[in-house]
Amino acid sequence: MHCTLLGVPVQSGSGRKGCNMGPNGLRAAGLGEALAGLGHDVVDLGDLEPAPRRAVSHPNAKLKALGETVSWLDALYDKAFEISGNGLPIFMGGDHVMAAASVAGVSRRAKEQGRPLFVLWLDAHPDFHTLESTESGNLHGTPAAYFTGRPGFGGIFPPLDAPVDPRNVCMLGIRSVDPPERAALKESGVTVHDMRAIDESGIAALLSSFLDTVAAEDGMLHVSFDVDFLDPSVAPGVGTTVPGGATFREAHLVMEMLHDSELVTSLDLVELNPFLDERGKAAILMTDLTASLFGRRVMDRPTRSYG
Ligand code: ARG
Ligand code: MN
Ligand code: MN
Ligand code: MN
Repeated sequence: MHCTLLGVPVQSGSGRKGCNMGPNGLRAAGLGEALAGLGHDVVDLGDLEPAPRRAVSHPNAKLKALGETVSWLDALYDKAFEISGNGLPIFMGGDHVMAAASVAGVSRRAKEQGRPLFVLWLDAHPDFHTLESTESGNLHGTPAAYFTGRPGFGGIFPPLDAPVDPRNVCMLGIRSVDPPERAALKESGVTVHDMRAIDESGIAALLSSFLDTVAAEDGMLHVSFDVDFLDPSVAPGVGTTVPGGATFREAHLVMEMLHDSELVTSLDLVELNPFLDERGKAAILMTDLTASLFGRRVMDRPTRSYG
């Protein structure tokens, strides 16, 4: 597999500092070497630079760093489309606002190829706020609303060529949802598997049924992996810790199943904040999990096919 690493050191969407060190945290943990060691052909493009600032404004006075954040999205939208034409892009964040542009860019690519795009959203949070509904004003709470075509982003975030069908989005690990997000998700058609669903059904059953759908529809699959999907005890290096997250073993199982499915076409690794991490614990775990997604395994076993 040809893998393209791109650093996207945006932190303005998170309302705090440190995520701009995320790409270098993953590099220091050996992400590129781990993938190359599995036999992949890896190119690290270095870090993206933001595009020139556009004049943007919005009546919600709570919004933080709108202009700066939009300049990152403008640059990433074009870059994501470009690099998704050759191999599998891995977008190393940076805070989760970057998924607005990584997903929009790969969605444009999917549309061009005449295939539907599916998104697996691994996160404690749905990030389903509009620019109107966010209370914190932190734009990392908005990307999933944007790329599914919820209203109010026009003229501010990059123009969305190919909105993702909300029915093609599966959220796994959800355990912190604000009231306006809850209401909007209910109407939306997005599949939301909260931690209770994981406890009741097991993570493998929930994931396999989604992968069956992706395979049956010959979809492209973008995985957007927020560090806070994981329990804070195993991944402390993130600003928005929420107790009760995915365990080390659940997360590895998800990655192994994704590998076996051969469906993944792009990946975000987001919200790693090395300033908050403990001796590289979260950076190393994110690297090991990515290695599982790219084929590292304990024992060989027959692969299950999806669809
Ligand atoms: N829902 C909260 C907010 O809008 C938290 C969002 C956290 N998002 C994230 N990507 N960590 O502020
Ligand atoms: Mn552009
Ligand atoms: Mn998130
Ligand atoms: Mn989150």
